[in-house]
Amino acid sequence: MIRESAPAKIILFGEHAVVHGQPAIALPFPALRAQITIRESATALEFRSVNGTLLAAPHLPKRSDPLLLQVLLTILCRLRIDAREVSVLLDSGIPQACGLGSGAAIATALTRALARHAGRSISAAEVNDIVFETETLFHGTPSGIDNTVIVHESALCFTRGMEPLPVRIARPFQLLVADSGDRCATHIPVSAVREQLQLHPEETAMILEDIGAIVHRASRALACMQPPALGALMYDNHALLGKLGVSSPLLDDLVCAARSAGAAGAKLSGAGRGGVVIALVEESRADDVALALEEAGAVQIWNTTIQATN
Ligand code: PMV
Repeated sequence: MIRESAPAKIILFGEHAVVHGQPAIALPFPALRAQITIRESATALEFRSVNGTLLAAPHLPKRSDPLLLQVLLTILCRLRIDAREVSVLLDSGIPQACGLGSGAAIATALTRALARHAGRSISAAEVNDIVFETETLFHGTPSGIDNTVIVHESALCFTRGMEPLPVRIARPFQLLVADSGDRCATHIPVSAVREQLQLHPEETAMILEDIGAIVHRASRALACMQPPALGALMYDNHALLGKLGVSSPLLDDLVCAARSAGAAGAKLSGAGRGGVVIALVEESRADDVALALEEAGAVQIWNTTIQATN
């Protein structure tokens, strides 16, 4: 039996602008993981969830989720393996379409597990490459930030087409991750931003550049860990994402509720129009902020400590 897993991710600053060449900061969120188990089986290759639901099987295309079947076939093709008579089980605690990188985490764990099953050793760069290709199935023009942070499982500053840089975090800090309960496929807000860029090129390019400038300032605030400065940048980043049209009334309400309850900062995280809001909190305020988020409509809240880096 082979078991591999990969974490969820959180974009701390810079989503959307990163698609258009600006930097962004992302963190792994290891409390939520996608886990793949591979066992020999008497039947043909089947990819199922732990509750037994068939997700994808090359010999049963009509009963397969088309996207997951494509992901599976892409990985098999890129690994040049012909997996037969194996059962692949997915056990994922990462909610889908809510900005936490569920698709990239599943593809990462699947790639590693299938490679190991075939006796292939595979570098992180190779996994990253394959997962990036599966990401294009989900949303056409991914920046590559999700696959990179998930495969490397470390905090990084990512700019499209460049080597990711490690992010220095001077001291641990606490984030609340609040699920709005609304779901939106990544490609919808990503296309909306692209349209806005075509319709209003100068104004939109300026917003994207302003987000890029926030990322540079955030990177310095993390390096000396100044929660008030970092938090203010989160509120600013959220406001700019609102101007890009990727927030929603509920996400704005959640950010507002966190702010009123004393969060140092809050913003949507991921593609937006649904999904999660993250809030930077001092430990003493965490319960109050969590309660305020719940009252404002969050359906689920995770409290996570982001570790310092060297
Ligand atoms: O798929 P999500 O919701 O984690 O969004 C990824 C971040 C975006 O910047 C919106 C898209 C991308 O490819 O970078």
